[in-house]
Amino acid sequence: MTPRHQDAASEAGSPQDPGWDPGVFFNRPLRVGRAVIPKRLFLAPLSKLGNVAFRELISGFGGFGLLFSEMAGSRGVASGGGPARSGFMWRKEELPHLVCQLYGDDPEIMARAAERVAADGFMGVDINFGCSVAVVCKHNCGAALLKDPVRAGKIVSAVRKAVPLPLFVKYRTGWHDDVAGAVDMARRFADEGADALTFHPRVAPDRRSRQPKWAYIGKVKSAVSIPVFGNGNVFDLRDCERMVSETECDGVAVGRLAVARPWTFAQWTDGFAPDACIYRRCALGLIDLLLKHFDAPTAMRRYCKFSGYFAANFKFGHTFFSLVHRAKTIEALRNAVTAFFETAPEIAARPNITMLR
Ligand SMILES: Cc1cc2nc3c(=O)[nH]c(=O)nc-3n(C[C@H](O)[C@H](O)[C@H](O)COP(=O)(O)O)c2cc1C
Repeated sequence: MTPRHQDAASEAGSPQDPGWDPGVFFNRPLRVGRAVIPKRLFLAPLSKLGNVAFRELISGFGGFGLLFSEMAGSRGVASGGGPARSGFMWRKEELPHLVCQLYGDDPEIMARAAERVAADGFMGVDINFGCSVAVVCKHNCGAALLKDPVRAGKIVSAVRKAVPLPLFVKYRTGWHDDVAGAVDMARRFADEGADALTFHPRVAPDRRSRQPKWAYIGKVKSAVSIPVFGNGNVFDLRDCERMVSETECDGVAVGRLAVARPWTFAQWTDGFAPDACIYRRCALGLIDLLLKHFDAPTAMRRYCKFSGYFAANFKFGHTFFSLVHRAKTIEALRNAVTAFFETAPEIAARPNITMLR
């Protein structure tokens, strides 16, 4: 156990303690670079899902330490594109706790994009070395850069030199099941000036089809002195406690569960108690928020994507999913969602997100 962890354990207890209180652990402030973050639970970056409207929904509940944006292409950001591009949209009110995630393969362009992120007032910048979708990797971005550690290091270094903001790096195990490689990358990112890492312990071709190897988070954590956030398959509080206790990570980034239950952060850190109407309220509320920020066709597309994860809450979630997908207009969508909740749907204790890759 490192001295830092002894401090953590003495202040908040460890998850094995019967008296471990997640509220205490997750409300313990954490220093990242020049910033102090009040809570240790974060919204993971989620392309199309973690959009500005969805973040407004989550912000209504609160309880998180930071929100990570959808990934935004560094070329568009550096050249002055957006905010019409959804990955680079925000509300002024969220900037103090909003980290902009950038992807790109060119250190100089990434640095220019980070300068714009700083000028626009974001809390921090996050570099994406985790995305393994073909459309990103074919441009040598995202997880593709884990095949080229020197270039990845140059990107971190260039962004570090360009901006004083807290600098986050999100990455995954790599392209082979090689924990030593992931540990080397962690050291490299820290040496090049990253202030914190979010580590998702899966190999790139896996996407989300196999269990993440949480033990690797512990190895990465013990290799560097900067904070490490664990990520991957936290679907309830018990998972979260286990991830923290097994890995001693400094915080947890939650992705799909937060889409299914946007009040998760408030529930775990602030003692928020959701009532039975919360599913209906969120489902209808998001339609209005999407329309506030996007045109109707984009709002419909974003809602369809959301519905796959939100459906995981219900015993008969496919009904919600198909009703949403059949709707062709906003009015039809509202009617379909209202109709779904007319008979109270049976709620699953734990969202069945594993079926939604
Ligand atoms: C629909 C979707 C979009 C995602 N987009 C991003 C992204 O833009 N940037 C990123 O670093 N990771 C992205 N991820 C990966 C998540 O941040 C996270 O690592 C992954 O979902 C595992 O965490 P979870 O089990 O809590 O969902 C995405 C995942 C999903 C499901």
